[in-house]
Amino acid sequence: MRVDILTIFPEMFTGPFDHSIIKRAIKKNLVEIHLSNIRDYSSKKHKNVDDYAFGGGAGMVMMIEPIDNCITSLSKERDYDEIIFLTPDGAQLTQKMANHYSMSGNLMILCGHYKGIDERIRENLITKEISIGNYVLSGGEIAAAVLCDSIIRLIPGVLGDETSALSDSYQDNLLAPPVYTRPYEYKGLKVPEILLSGDEKKINKWRHEKAMERTLERRPDLLEE
Ligand code: ADE
Repeated sequence: MRVDILTIFPEMFTGPFDHSIIKRAIKKNLVEIHLSNIRDYSSKKHKNVDDYAFGGGAGMVMMIEPIDNCITSLSKERDYDEIIFLTPDGAQLTQKMANHYSMSGNLMILCGHYKGIDERIRENLITKEISIGNYVLSGGEIAAAVLCDSIIRLIPGVLGDETSALSDSYQDNLLAPPVYTRPYEYKGLKVPEILLSGDEKKINKWRHEKAMERTLERRPDLLEE
């Protein structure tokens, strides 16, 4: 998979993609992440990417021209399955969406800033708008890192144990059951006996029950879906 991220702050991605699972996925050539600095596509003398909002009001708006130039230039090289814009008024990111996008060939992700981006970009260049939650971030970069992480870890071959993504919270609309490791007893706190029984069938049943219990208690809405 190839992911192109369009941003005015490419440096913000050095941390999230340089560690752990994403780093391993890149090293294994299972994903390529390319950062494009939108500023490089501005035809203005000072490489401006934003301007005042028509009609007045506080806050700058990202201009269409550099973003159009960047998207057009990348789209000439390859077809994209989706051109995603991260925005708090987009469709809420779900595990189902992450599963879907993990099967993509090429994805483009646009990060917005300031007051927003010129509406003509959203109407004419973007194919999908996604929000990572009901809160407002100062830009799309952190949301893009979240989206990429949720997708890339699901690409076949990325996770060491192929089955481990299947037991994640939200797969099958269930939250994950509790997990324990050594020591068996810590300051009088013990691990549930059943996990030491060696009886895989019983353990799976217990895990499923715990997942149900946790979901009912914390996220009953998931069971209604
Ligand atoms: N940009 C700003 N806030 C955001 C959010 N909640 N989700 C996605 N992109 C955003």
